[in-house]
Amino acid sequence: MTRAQTERKEHDAASSDDEPLLTVENLQTHFPVRGGLFGAGSGVVKAVDGVSFNVEPGEVFGLVGESGSGKTTLGRTLVNLIPPTAGVLRYRGIDLAAQSERAMRGLRRELSVIFQDPNASLNPAMTIVDGVGHPLRIHALATKASDVRREVAAMLERVGLSPPESFLDRYPDELSGGQKQRLVIARALITRPKLVIADEPVAALDMSVRARVLELMLDLKKEFNLTYILITHDLATARFMCDRIGILYLGKFVEQGEAKRLFDDPKHPYTRALLDAIPLPEAGRRGRQKELPRGEVPDAIRPPAGCRFHPRCARAFGACGWEGRDLIEAIEARWTTVDVEIRQREQALIGDLAKADVHREQVRFSGLDAASFEQWLRRTGPDLPGKVFSGIREISAESNVLTVSFKAAPEPAMQQVEGRSVACHHYGVQALPGGDHVGEADWQAVASEQD
Ligand SMILES: Nc1ncnc2c1ncn2[C@@H]1O[C@H](COP(=O)(O)OP(=O)(O)OP(=O)(O)O)[C@@H](O)[C@H]1O
Ligand SMILES: [Mg+2]
Repeated sequence: MTRAQTERKEHDAASSDDEPLLTVENLQTHFPVRGGLFGAGSGVVKAVDGVSFNVEPGEVFGLVGESGSGKTTLGRTLVNLIPPTAGVLRYRGIDLAAQSERAMRGLRRELSVIFQDPNASLNPAMTIVDGVGHPLRIHALATKASDVRREVAAMLERVGLSPPESFLDRYPDELSGGQKQRLVIARALITRPKLVIADEPVAALDMSVRARVLELMLDLKKEFNLTYILITHDLATARFMCDRIGILYLGKFVEQGEAKRLFDDPKHPYTRALLDAIPLPEAGRRGRQKELPRGEVPDAIRPPAGCRFHPRCARAFGACGWEGRDLIEAIEARWTTVDVEIRQREQALIGDLAKADVHREQVRFSGLDAASFEQWLRRTGPDLPGKVFSGIREISAESNVLTVSFKAAPEPAMQQVEGRSVACHHYGVQALPGGDHVGEADWQAVASEQD
């Protein structure tokens, strides 16, 4: 028995048939970072921050979200290219994080990654036969040059690079974008993996070739009994490919379930916003195409309190996690829209927003006429952009200091809504166990306020 066969046997003994192909429970991947925008201290980027899902053999599971939502980090964590910070990660019942390097090498051939950047997997200095055949040599699946050549040729044929003889001795850069991506797929499949993580496999391609490459992926999936985890920011791609989907926002799933359900009737406001932003294919028709909600995706070092989507959410209310910086941002946003005289009057009243002492639970404005500011805030607050005013628990003026305190607000737990999981207080305020709460006060009171 070869060493590879022995290792396979060890894994097979450890795995069980009742297990999903992949089990992911509360997975977290945090990156320590030094310095940064907010002073000299160091912080932690919570790129993946508590994600749970299973993947069954033969399915296409989509990880969907905007740039920076943690898709690539999650994908790489799933195959143990990045060690998880916490959580459970089992492949065929095997705890990947607990594997020795040797055992992991044996498993690695079953877990392939199509990297987001095609140049990351294709060495431009290697001929196609050497580049695509490289994993065969690494895993000692073929060592003789003639065997490698034969296997690579067969795989090239399979991915539509035909006749293979005309490609084998060329270099990747001589190929078109679509051909290059076929090459990347050939390389990913050459070890006959079981699970393939495809990270934005068609994002770099022209629209005209995207569909053909996706169709090829589906054909190959059938032929080789593959399971895909498809990473994409593009909902049209997800819709075409996926059986089930998890929508990621700042390292967490906001909604997860059957792709068809999510597309036909999205429940999380973020999923709705993403779907509304899809351009309609019919040319000339007035689209329901909209911009994604206002604001950038916030910084993953300091994610918003409560529901991470609340600052951009059209349906947010008092329980969603309003905090100090939301008030500052709302006043700033107001000042970009009101007449200049109003802005100047208000600036004279409130002073320099940059000098406010801003925390999650409260903001303190000092050195001003606190009573007049309080009056202004009570009158104007309900008109401020977003629903920040509904998240305020108390406004207290004391000579020249105005303190605005915010209601405690739990991070939303996943709850079942019409056949899928949704993390949104709109369907009933439910606190995520062990979640990151604002303050310690009784937050149940805010639950009754939902619209
Ligand atoms: N090695 C790293 N060190 C520090 N931060 C990182 C590292 N890798 C990723 N991040 C941060 O983690 C977050 C998630 O990044 P990731 O690349 O996983 O997102 P993504 O969804 O794949 O985005 P894109 O659609 O742009 O590819 C981002 O804030 C990113 O800056
Ligand atoms: Mg990415």
